[in-house]
Amino acid sequence: MAERETWASRLGFILAAVGSAVGLGNIWQFPFKTATEGGAAFVVVYLVAALLLGLPAILGEFVIGRRANLNAVEAFDRLDHPAWTIVGAMGLLTGLWILSYYSVVGGWVTRYLLGSATGAYFAAPAAYFGSVSMGWEAVAFHGAFMAATAGIVAFGIEKATKLMVPSILVMLVGLAVYASTLNGVGAAYEFYLSPDFGFIADNIGSIVPYAVSQAFFSLSLGMGAMITYASYLGDDDSLFADGGLIVVLNTSVGLLAGLVVIPLLFVQFGTVPDAAAGGGAGALFISVAQAFATLGVAGRVLGVLFFGVVLVAALSSAISLLEVVTAYVVDNYGYSRPATAFSFGGVLFALGTLSAWNTAWLDWFDSLAYGVLLPLSVLLGVVFVGWVYGPAAVDEIKKGSGTGTTFATAWLWSVRTYVLIGVFVTLYLGVTDIYAAPAIPFV
Ligand code: PHE
Repeated sequence: MAERETWASRLGFILAAVGSAVGLGNIWQFPFKTATEGGAAFVVVYLVAALLLGLPAILGEFVIGRRANLNAVEAFDRLDHPAWTIVGAMGLLTGLWILSYYSVVGGWVTRYLLGSATGAYFAAPAAYFGSVSMGWEAVAFHGAFMAATAGIVAFGIEKATKLMVPSILVMLVGLAVYASTLNGVGAAYEFYLSPDFGFIADNIGSIVPYAVSQAFFSLSLGMGAMITYASYLGDDDSLFADGGLIVVLNTSVGLLAGLVVIPLLFVQFGTVPDAAAGGGAGALFISVAQAFATLGVAGRVLGVLFFGVVLVAALSSAISLLEVVTAYVVDNYGYSRPATAFSFGGVLFALGTLSAWNTAWLDWFDSLAYGVLLPLSVLLGVVFVGWVYGPAAVDEIKKGSGTGTTFATAWLWSVRTYVLIGVFVTLYLGVTDIYAAPAIPFV
């Protein structure tokens, strides 16, 4: 059997994992949800969720991946719990499900990047979204995005993410600095950064599940992505240190994106505009595009930079979703990496045409993934690490970390107890939400 690949360096792993984590979740969804779920109050709950639930959970996936040194499906078998391979398979399928429409949004972003350069949406931003988000053009751009994703998976994730992640950071910082110079930015910062705790208390039932799912999605949990990436790691890496750094970087990028988007919206509209507050997949595209459109030539430059960042971030996440199935097939059947990546890219392109054809499908795919598949998959992973694998997980996480048993055991108990309860409650709320309003298109 061919030798399995490994990361060339620790930095390579960290950047790839950050690339996976930082994506549309951070730059598109996070500012948007912040805008609609109460501003700074949402940010606070999100930060708590990322640290208290997200960090222990991502460490659990790292443990599974590194210990097994195998793809996310067969990992469970190698850890001597073959019945749990079904959980790995579920994660893989959830990831593919998500990639099918993630790529459609990636296509929109590409379209908006070009549209910013030419000023195509400047005259009528809302109508523009309607015309590019569905139909043949959306299908074509979705295809281009998927092809690029497959190309990177085929020819080298580590090299690509080494370039991509630093450029995301640099461009976002630049944009945030620019946004800070806008007139009237104070009200935006106030909305974004000074939390109203009364609002949290009154809306706890809706903020918490959103914030927690957002944290899981943003950290790429529950889809085998982090298991797969950690499977290419050696034993001398500290999972605690790497996991902590990845969570901090990912959260910082979300916060930075908010520092760009919220001021742009406020400065143009004096508040969160209706298009954003009204929700729906296109809300942020429409309102951010409106903001750029009012800025003339400067808006073109900013638009290219902004949608450029979003595109790079989306690509570096999409590749980690496609890598899960690619690793499985390459490990298991020994097929070539390029053939595998492009074949699955083709299948997912076909599935995604539904979402590209009509955004009602996209919303449906997304709500099922977000409300049910994702929390369910994270929950099963947490049960596995905490209660099934238990002591062996402590043993694994200590390797290369220089920390003692007490610290590692504290982590295990956090996973066994409150993380598990937190994920369970999120799943419960997600399911009841969908049950209350099943948004199945065209039925
Ligand atoms: N974390 C990515 C984002 O924030 C999405 C993603 C989820 C990528 C799961 C891989 C796995 O956009």
